[in-house]
Amino acid sequence: MKVGILSGGGDAPGINAVVRAIVRKGIQNYRYEIVGIKEGWRGLLENEFLPLDLKASSGILPRGGSILGTSRTNPFKNKDEPEKIMKNAKNAGIGAVVAIGGDDTLSVAYKMGEFGLKCVGVPKTIDNDLAGTDYTFGFNTAVSIATEALDRLHTTAETHQRVMILEVMGRYSGWIALEAGLAGGADVILVPEKPFDIKEVCKYIKRRQKRGRNFSIIVVAEGAKPKGGQEIVYSESVDQFGHIRLGGIGYYLGKKIEKCMEIETRVVVLGHIQRGGSPTAFDRILATQFGIGAIDLVHRKKFGRMVAIKGNRIVSVPLKDVIGKRKTVDMELYNIASVFFG
Ligand code: F6P
Repeated sequence: MKVGILSGGGDAPGINAVVRAIVRKGIQNYRYEIVGIKEGWRGLLENEFLPLDLKASSGILPRGGSILGTSRTNPFKNKDEPEKIMKNAKNAGIGAVVAIGGDDTLSVAYKMGEFGLKCVGVPKTIDNDLAGTDYTFGFNTAVSIATEALDRLHTTAETHQRVMILEVMGRYSGWIALEAGLAGGADVILVPEKPFDIKEVCKYIKRRQKRGRNFSIIVVAEGAKPKGGQEIVYSESVDQFGHIRLGGIGYYLGKKIEKCMEIETRVVVLGHIQRGGSPTAFDRILATQFGIGAIDLVHRKKFGRMVAIKGNRIVSVPLKDVIGKRKTVDMELYNIASVFFG
């Protein structure tokens, strides 16, 4: 059988490790032919493929990005495109597709399943907001990078006696902010799941000052919003899945803090640095486990499912139970982090 692999949505460190695992086990153990589908669902619409043999997938384990490229192409935006995908997959001899992606890419995989395309999903996103799995790969790397940024901000914040705000990604969930904030000893962590009160944020900063700590570190998720307010958007233009671009909450917050108290404030937007570069060991291992799990699902003909990690076990869950949901931050973990606020 010929198995196609595609990666869609924002890249996440570990995609290449998934590809390597699928190719290795698919060829070696199952004698499959493996083909890369370029740039997500776009590759199936435009017939853009990349043959993947053992040589092509060798040496890519530590490499960030995706050798397949990616896109936010949504074939359900245009009426004829799902049929076009079915036709192209048939002509290319592709019998099954492994879709590596977040909610958008996997929603398409689920819907294409209803058209007859045999799909298996792999959960990928630095945001860790996908339902059905404890972790997505890419998240651990993003948290590590954000934690290192916080360590670095600490020394300069302390020296200059400033408030330093680190704005991190995560879309509508605060996983990166929460875990990096906890690991990096943040004095305040603001997440979308818990709209904030600026007076309370200033209270924490003042409380630290009373203890002789004349600097503070705040981590804010890009989707965080003030109580009764809205998320701050960088641009109103939407992608093919209807997502706006978030960004700017760090600067909003910085100005508000400087208004409510006399302390110099600086803002750092971590941006795509947290998504680029080599995956951590954790993400390399998880991505490899997911890749092996995905090709095993194909071999067992368990289509319409996504590999997942529950506890420390690799399992699979139906795609229909995953899509259109959002895994919000663990409030118990947030409460632990909040012991260290102020
Ligand atoms: O979903 C991953 C993510 O990095 C989000 O955290 C962020 O909001 C978005 O993608 C940014 O996307 P783009 O690649 O379009 O800048």
